[in-house]
Order: sequence, then structure tokens, then C-alpha cells
Amino acid sequence: MADTDAFERMERDGWGNPDIAKGYADGFDRASRQVAAALSEVAAPGADVLDLCTGHGVVAAACVAKGARVTGLDFSEAMITLARENVPEATFVHGDAMHLSYDDDCFDAVTIGFGVPHFPDPARGLAEAARVLRPGGRIAFSIWYGKGSPGSFGWLFDAVGRLGDSSVTLPPGPDAHWLTDHGVATRMVTQAGFYDVAFADLDTDLWVPTPAALFDVFAGGAVRAASLLSGQPTDRRDAIRADLARCVLAQGRAEAGGHFVPAPSLRITATAT
Ligand SMILES: C[S@@+](CC[C@H](N)C(=O)[O-])C[C@H]1O[C@@H](n2cnc3c(N)ncnc32)[C@H](O)[C@@H]1O
Repeated sequence: MADTDAFERMERDGWGNPDIAKGYADGFDRASRQVAAALSEVAAPGADVLDLCTGHGVVAAACVAKGARVTGLDFSEAMITLARENVPEATFVHGDAMHLSYDDDCFDAVTIGFGVPHFPDPARGLAEAARVLRPGGRIAFSIWYGKGSPGSFGWLFDAVGRLGDSSVTLPPGPDAHWLTDHGVATRMVTQAGFYDVAFADLDTDLWVPTPAALFDVFAGGAVRAASLLSGQPTDRRDAIRADLARCVLAQGRAEAGGHFVPAPSLRITATAT
């Protein structure tokens, strides 16, 4: 069995769980929409857009609003059900972004909202995107800033590192935040078959009804983070929850009956050769 098989199984099983799919759609909705607007800049009226890892369809919806013909693809039936309800104007198909069934050169743009970090082999996923794009076609994808960053994901990994049980580990897989390094990303995207690689930092944020709810956003609406949290003994989980709540109170913004918390992300765009 290849090293990443267990990782891939965790991702498929996790996103296939209707509770996780709904938890993501609700918990990350605000940031997803902010990023969708930024990614849809590569979509033009009448263009054929493939939205990989479409999830509940938020990027697909933004591309439809630009007048594009949109196909959303995901390996989670639970996500596709949500996407079809949310965006009846787009076509949604079940599939694996690592092995696309499309011919070469058949799309004008590919969008991937927070999907690349879930690929067992990001280089292969990006090469598949390049293959199905027409020469000159554009890709736009997004990545969360992670460990050490000033925001929700940084707080999470810091809290798990300080307060969690270090014997709780994940199946080996690529680092979820690796491509926030511009050098690493430029090399991988270029080798996948693109040029003109460009980066834009996005001031994305999440909204939580209470400070303690940030823990639930990760535990109930993600896969890797959820696995890391669900394996913790109760006292460690409680300590991590309390630590995240303190961060929300100290660094979030109380408004609209809840709290806005930073969750910075990065948009990467490039052009297919
Ligand atoms: C974090 S969600 C992002 C959803 C949406 N694009 C957004 O921006 O909010 C990641 C999505 O990628 C899907 N996914 C992960 N790996 C995939 C793969 N190899 N092929 C197809 N879908 C995948 C998951 O099922 C999930 O719906």
C-alpha cells in the first residue's frame, strides 16, 4: 500500500460524511464566499469553467454569476447534493480531481477553492488541471495560511502543539499549508504546466456565534483538523477549546451577535502552457 493511501481514505471518508459536509458549508461559509469572489476572476462570460473540489458550490456560484458555463466536480456525494441545491445553474459531477475523465484542452478556466491541500499528490492534481485547460487557460486556487500564521488555523495548530496529546497523529500526507511558500508553489505550479504564477493575500475571516464555537468549526467542519481533535482525550480537547476561545476574545471582533475571526488565505493564479 502506498504511503498516502490512508491519507486519501481519511479525506474521502471525511468529506463523504454528510455531517462534515454540512459543518463545513456552515462553519466556513463566510470565508468560502470571500475566496470564491477572488477565484471567479478567472471566469469570463461564456467560458467553460471546471470547479474542482466544488464542495457546496460556492465557487461555482461565483463563476455562474460571471456568466460562465460551470461544471463542479467533487468526490463527496454529500457535497454534490448540497451544491445541486445551492447552484441549479451549474452542472455537478462526481469525480476525483487526481484522475479527471475529461479530454485534454477542454476548459477555459479551472478553479479550486481550498481543495489542493486535500490532494494526496498536489503536483499530480495541478498537472491534471493543466492537462484539461486549453493553452492560455487560467487556474485560480486557494490555500489557508497555517502554522505560525496570525489567525484561526495558526491558533489551532499552536494550541494542538502546546496542549494536545502528541501521540495523536494523522496518516502521512502532504503538508496542508506547504504551498503558501511562494518558492515551493512557483516550482510546483510551473512544473505542472503553467506560467505567470501570481499570489494575492486574502483577508478572509470566519464568523462564530460564541468564542468556544471556533473549536466546533474545526471539529465538525473539516477533515484533517477534525481527526486531530477527535483523537484527543477529553481534558486535552477542553484545553484546546478554551485556548481557541481566548484567542477569539483577544483577537477577534465582536459584532453581529457573534465574533469575526481572521482566517487569512492565499490565492494562486497561473496560465496554462
Ligand atoms: C475544504 S472543501 C472546499 C469546498 C469549496 N471549494 C470551497 O471553496 O468552499 C474541500 C472539498 O474538496 C473535495 N475534495 C478533496 N479531495 C478531492 C479529490 N481528490 N477529488 C475531488 N474532490 C475532492 C472535498 O470533498 C470537499 O468538498
